[in-house]
Amino acid sequence: MFALPELPYAYDALQPVMSDRTLHFHHDKHHAAYVKTLNDLLQAAGKSPSSLESVILEASKSVDRKLFNNAAQAWNHSFFWASMSERRERPAGELAGAINGAFGDLGGLAKAFVEEGVGHFGSGWVWLTAERGGGLKLRTTHDADDTLTQGETTPLLVCDLWEHAYYLDHQNDRKAFLAAWFDALPNWAFAAAQYAAAQGHGRPWRHPAPMPAPSAKMVGAG
Ligand code: FE2
Repeated sequence: MFALPELPYAYDALQPVMSDRTLHFHHDKHHAAYVKTLNDLLQAAGKSPSSLESVILEASKSVDRKLFNNAAQAWNHSFFWASMSERRERPAGELAGAINGAFGDLGGLAKAFVEEGVGHFGSGWVWLTAERGGGLKLRTTHDADDTLTQGETTPLLVCDLWEHAYYLDHQNDRKAFLAAWFDALPNWAFAAAQYAAAQGHGRPWRHPAPMPAPSAKMVGAG
């Protein structure tokens, strides 16, 4: 059984880009529902997986999308929370050099990131990734799709493009949301650690493992 990870900051820490109200709905309702459904499906199937990554990779090969969608959305949201910080950082070191190499400078990445997210039709995610060989790239994925199933790419940051991520605070203005998000919230220290992992230094982020003990606090059928 997978637990709903707690936010790594206070609910009001990301204001005004993301309000306390948005984070309560987004984390406590949306993310929690994906985790609960994931646990219910695993329990019904009698499965006790060792990692969420293994669930996603296996489910991605099935025609039944329900398990994949809920597992991937559970993973994507946990990665999304890790992708943000209240510290208002700027990228440094090797990652800053890679950004300059791929996008000119941080402003070039900001512009491309917003354009990529605005140009994505419907729900999904916009990712900054490190590709095999070290180059950086922007990718978008639809609905629950993530980068785990897309070969040798390492996500550095992600922003949620589902309307529940921004509608309470920015209504239909996805562009304003993405511009404000990129300006204030990326966790560049996290992105730098992911970039280092993509270069073979350390391991990339993995979702917290399932709870081992049945008596542990769980989100699921009960
Ligand atoms: Fe979301």
